[in-house]
Amino acid sequence: MKTRFVCQNCGASSPKWMGRCPNCGVFNTMVEEKMKEQVSKNQYEPARVISLTEVPIEQKDRIHTGLQEFDRVLGGGFVKGSLILLGGDPGIGKSTLMLQVSSPLAKNNAEIFYVSGEESPYQVKLRARRLGVNSNNIKFLAETNLDAILDCAEDINPDLMVIDSIQTVYSPDLSSAPGSVGQVRECGARIMRFAKQREITTVIIGHVTKFGMIAGPKTLEHIVDTVLYFEGDKTQQYRILRAIKNRFGSTNEIGVFEMSESGLREVDNPSRLFISGAHTSGSAIITVIEGSRPLLVEVQALTSPSIFNYPQRVTSGVDYKRLAMLIAVLERRLGIGVARFDCFVNAVGGIRVFEPGCDLGIILAIASSIKNIPIDEHTVIIGEVGLGGEVRPVFNIESRIKAAGNLGFRLAIIPEKNPIRGKQKMEVVPVNTVKDAVRIALGL
Ligand code: TYD
Ligand code: MG
Repeated sequence: MKTRFVCQNCGASSPKWMGRCPNCGVFNTMVEEKMKEQVSKNQYEPARVISLTEVPIEQKDRIHTGLQEFDRVLGGGFVKGSLILLGGDPGIGKSTLMLQVSSPLAKNNAEIFYVSGEESPYQVKLRARRLGVNSNNIKFLAETNLDAILDCAEDINPDLMVIDSIQTVYSPDLSSAPGSVGQVRECGARIMRFAKQREITTVIIGHVTKFGMIAGPKTLEHIVDTVLYFEGDKTQQYRILRAIKNRFGSTNEIGVFEMSESGLREVDNPSRLFISGAHTSGSAIITVIEGSRPLLVEVQALTSPSIFNYPQRVTSGVDYKRLAMLIAVLERRLGIGVARFDCFVNAVGGIRVFEPGCDLGIILAIASSIKNIPIDEHTVIIGEVGLGGEVRPVFNIESRIKAAGNLGFRLAIIPEKNPIRGKQKMEVVPVNTVKDAVRIALGL
């Protein structure tokens, strides 16, 4: 099979690899591709166009895994014959998750084919023992040659195939190294054709690479049916499974897991996970909507006099640019000086709070730290902040207030422009500006 190298920037091709494209002059854009065989006009079968109304609606079978959180993210279990990409940082727990998902399926007599290009059978066996996974129905293969893998898969004809990971498998048709863009793309496309033709549900595991997202599984996102990302802070035990794309369900759901000694444990009521319990000045409780679930999250701000001319702004789980904007609002609209302070802002528990509805909570946390006045720990703060210092409405206000009420919060500071209906479990104070919110929360 002949291959050629195609520039991803301008489309120029060359028979051999070059570090710099001779046409557009950009470096590192040449990616290996298989050459298409020439198809003459009368060689292909004539295509048939049909009306959409003729297409029968068949309910695709769902395979329930028994892990509720996993099923929910998929939209109710695996769709038979679908192709799923599971991405995440190395070491976050992707292999663990797939082995745990395999276990209840195997117990239900489903045949699982687990291919690992990264670990030996012994390593995987050790992990399986730790997880209490033990079934004859899980077949294991340590192999990286895609031809060999697909041959075995054809013999076994499994219900679920797991390829761990796409960066380690290679197609012998291409000369480039495993993990290169050309290989990832070619292997992904071959696995897709195989999975679709034989209706084998397939999960491809992909490591997200820090540099050059392009070489990572990103290049596969458009060919697969579902893209799941497993994320979390490796130093914390919580992991969030998120659907980025889902042809068979919504992309709103998340699954929350806890990494323990014996594998991942499902967390079905994650509301309290992201609150530290140590409530001091600089702490504020906010709400984020993850999927259909409101979560309460503590944001902590710490300000301390800067010893450099250029004060530091450090965030973890909070958008850095948004923080710069909120600090500017504090300075200009409220006259609270942050310019000579280093400012550290952290969302507890390794969660990421990037929605605008968190603004007001973050701004109050910073103000609380600067003034050294704690916000009452039973207060939840909801609202987006505009550049004029105004508080703007957020979506799903009622479910946010309800979640806080259920957890025993007593006061909610919310945007005045958010209409709420009915009686609430706790006191609700609408505010129009950040100034009002600071007055209520800090008594200033
Ligand atoms: P792993 O599934 O190998 O990650 P990935 O496939 O995404 O690279 O899991 C990696 C981490 O999980 C490893 O550092 C150890 C931890 N771990 C536990 O804490 N408990 C367990 O029971 C298992 C199996 C792993
Ligand atoms: Mg792994």
